Amino acid sequence: MATAQADTGIRVTPSGDTLGADISGVDLSRMDDALFGEIRRAWLDHLVLRFRGQTLDDDALADFSRRIGDLDMAPTGRTGRPFQPERPEIAVISNIVVDGKPVGSLGAGEAEWHTDMSYNDVPPDASVLYGIEVPEGAGHTWFCNMYAAFEALPADMRARLETLTCKHDATRNSTGELRAGFDEHYTPENLPGAVHPLVRTHPETGRKALFLGRRRNAYVMGVPVAESDRLLDELWAHAIKPEFCWVQHWRVGDVVMWDNRCTLHRREPFDPALRRRMHRTQIKGSRPY
Ligand code: OGA
Ligand code: MN
Repeated sequence: MATAQADTGIRVTPSGDTLGADISGVDLSRMDDALFGEIRRAWLDHLVLRFRGQTLDDDALADFSRRIGDLDMAPTGRTGRPFQPERPEIAVISNIVVDGKPVGSLGAGEAEWHTDMSYNDVPPDASVLYGIEVPEGAGHTWFCNMYAAFEALPADMRARLETLTCKHDATRNSTGELRAGFDEHYTPENLPGAVHPLVRTHPETGRKALFLGRRRNAYVMGVPVAESDRLLDELWAHAIKPEFCWVQHWRVGDVVMWDNRCTLHRREPFDPALRRRMHRTQIKGSRPY
């Protein structure tokens, strides 16, 4: 059901799942404070917002994103270099190859469930992804609600998790590729990455959310590896249940803005012969607590 917002004319239509909403009546290249205030409130309520039918150049994408907060430099691909050196704050997510060189990162394989760059001590709060070329009916992006996943756990489990921290692996990206500068062989103890609370308090809403990052090589600090694996497998099986998910079926011109503090996302694999090209920003965050 859509609710009309009196002042700015924007319309918020919740997806009907536990997260996600469409925002209509907005041209993201023409933003003002009142309008952005409405968007921010809707975002905190719905965790992931979709704006259809947008036409943005990189400046407009960066200008809109800067309303959310200061921009991070884009994560680099396998080479460790930005895809657009003149626009280091815009990442290119694409499987397209030109003259033997990928124009962006993540290819066409599955990007496994993750939250962005939580292997850093200060992970980004938000990411904004703009679909420029999207394959029809393929390459969908799933999101899931980590407040809802946390709240659905039994009280004794919630209490236990609040005492635990977890290491988030910095060595591989969500498609499993080794990042520039890392090798294959680490133990949980010397694995490069950041240690964060397993349950994080959202600094704006005050709500608690599971903060899982990604499954591969994750390690619950201070417990035997087998126990850590058992607990993480159990938490992951719970967290990504369909009842906590919403799926974004991309159309050209979609802008999707998500909150990395309380959601996970994954991208389905798609036929590499299809073309998919998105531009993306991410917004600096604060240390999870
Ligand atoms: C990202 C990401 C998924 C997608 O940009 O952080 O995970 O659908 N992208 O391309
Ligand atoms: Mn991501």
